Amino acid sequence: ENTCFVLTLMVPFSFPLSKCALWDPVPMGDVIGAHITYYRNPKLSLVEKTLRLAYRHAKQNEKKSFSCFLLGTLAVNEDGEGITLTIDRFDPGRDVAGGSGKIPTASLPGDFLIPCTVNAWGPCSDNILVHSAEDISLAFKGLHQSLCSKEALDLSKLLTVRAHIFFTENLDNLHFSFRWASLTVANILEYTPVKSVPIIPTALARNLSSPMNIAQVQGTYKCGYLTMDQTRKLLLLLESDPKAYSLPLVGIWLSGVTHICSPQVWACCLRYLFSSSIQERVFSESGSFLIVLYSLTHKEPEFYECVPCSGQTELGFQILTCQETVHLFKNVEPSDKSPIQFELSSENQNAETEFFSRICKKIPIKRCVCEAVGRESLYLLARSSICIFIV
Ligand SMILES: *[C@@H]1O[C@H](CO)[C@@H](O)[C@H](O)[C@H]1NC(C)=O
Repeated sequence: ENTCFVLTLMVPFSFPLSKCALWDPVPMGDVIGAHITYYRNPKLSLVEKTLRLAYRHAKQNEKKSFSCFLLGTLAVNEDGEGITLTIDRFDPGRDVAGGSGKIPTASLPGDFLIPCTVNAWGPCSDNILVHSAEDISLAFKGLHQSLCSKEALDLSKLLTVRAHIFFTENLDNLHFSFRWASLTVANILEYTPVKSVPIIPTALARNLSSPMNIAQVQGTYKCGYLTMDQTRKLLLLLESDPKAYSLPLVGIWLSGVTHICSPQVWACCLRYLFSSSIQERVFSESGSFLIVLYSLTHKEPEFYECVPCSGQTELGFQILTCQETVHLFKNVEPSDKSPIQFELSSENQNAETEFFSRICKKIPIKRCVCEAVGRESLYLLARSSICIFIV
């Protein structure tokens, strides 16, 4: 796929000898913040039929607590500023040999998997926890690995969701108490618009500037990396181009997103910062890297500088929770039209968030990748004092 865009360089390619002042850092507009929850809290949209199915299965089960899976799809909202996880399938799961829990019976690639516990007949107590210490530790490893690896990065890999549902029955009434808990990356980024930087008109660059670009044709978003030649023109590389992992890089390009605020841009920036495959990142004097955005709304590419907010160079994690009760009637045909809505928030304080803070202090945060970024930043600080700024 896309092999025609993997460059064959006729002349030996070389990065500018001086790594100073590679682009004009003068801000051309206001700073824009970015995080998966920056503009709007993530929404969960649960189809009623799925909930009723989980309830029926749990009721048939002799055990008081029944573990299963809810399956869904994560999507960026149409305005590009928030995300919604649509949960529309139930999977009872099957036991794995050795008694180490359950796996889904039928999950497809791209499915968002939510491990779920359903408690029948039990009132919900305040100090019930959705995550175990092991769940948290495994989630951290998973999030870290998604950013480290070379695999195409899907936003859904930067968020985990678990649920605990309690139900009680009373005549015709069903009461559900929901405990949702989600783990994600905490790092906030800042984008500043800058002047355009010349781009070498390769086949890939020309394709991205055209209305029928790869992202458009494949109906998805695409991202890749940026390097620079000696004349300080940007060379766009595909994520799958081996050269992206041998040449010094100055940032990323994206195509097929609505807006710079899209959580997909945030995800790609994090991948750039934390990928363990990248050999060398060259930051600006202020520790920024470049974003070239071929958005759906602008004809010309937009240019931004990106920097981790308040010098957060290490990977951090965050918990989002939601606690809600839902009331349904027992013998009513479920409506597909209006799914049950929940909102995950980082602002809540409950037993789950307290437990999370306690566990975080105990889990050794992986230093390998974070240190690599930290060292580069230090190098930048040391270098900036001898740089001559040509603006
Ligand atoms: C861009 O690349 C895609 C995938 O290779 C191709 O289908 C599309 O026609 C190209 N567009 C242009 C304008 O060359």
